[in-house]
Amino acid sequence: LDGLQTKFVGRPVVYRERVDSTNNVAKKLADQGAPEGTIIVAEEQTGGRGRINRTFLSPYAKGVWFSLILRPDISPMEVAKMTLLAAVAVARSIRRHGLADCGIKWPNDILVQGRKMVGILTELNGSAEKVNYIIMGIGVNTDIMADDLPEDLKSIVTSFAREGIRVSRLALLETLLAEIERLYDTVCRQGFSQVLAEWRSLSCMLGQEVTVSSVNRTFSGMARDIDENGNLLVDTAAGTEVVMAGDIHVRPV
Ligand code: BTN
Repeated sequence: LDGLQTKFVGRPVVYRERVDSTNNVAKKLADQGAPEGTIIVAEEQTGGRGRINRTFLSPYAKGVWFSLILRPDISPMEVAKMTLLAAVAVARSIRRHGLADCGIKWPNDILVQGRKMVGILTELNGSAEKVNYIIMGIGVNTDIMADDLPEDLKSIVTSFAREGIRVSRLALLETLLAEIERLYDTVCRQGFSQVLAEWRSLSCMLGQEVTVSSVNRTFSGMARDIDENGNLLVDTAAGTEVVMAGDIHVRPV
């Protein structure tokens, strides 16, 4: 990454050709004491993971699949903020590389023309009071084409290539790391409100009717806002529900 212009994010870069999941490798490295800013990037993931035990398709050289180790001084309650920060950084990067029409779907997807192009999986290690480390895992589809996708994903997943844009995976990774560092710096110095405001402006979900479902229950309402911890506020006939990212699906009604 010769063009990398960051102080600590992406320092060092650990490169692997094939891994099960970069988040798993990052966890191992973090447990061994790897410094904040270490990233692990791979050409291919054989067991890429998404939220709610879903798999994340990560074929060889068809995307940017990486995980970043962070050691922020926050409580576990605040970890959802880091996912929002990542989403804003990714949305900025995608726009810079030519796709203006991208929006954030709470909590962790980036959609282009309504189809998913990016997944973010933030995982945390620590106690109830204190975060030890966070693994911020990001996957951006660059070169995936319809033929790479199973039938059920063809209409809901996209990539730079499917949107008609050629992008250098290295240049995109450099942009992503720089944007993450910039936002992380902002949050550390000035708190979270600026990132939150930008997240709101990039959201493609606020103001929409949504259905929220978890193992326990399902309800519908209007996605009104997110709170300062990154939880989604959904107005229903019975009042406002505070939805935490956890094991939950949110989809348009
Ligand atoms: C989701 O769609 O629910 C999140 C997907 C997150 C995918 C990224 S790719 C790099 C990192 N390694 C993983 O196994 N998952 C994340």
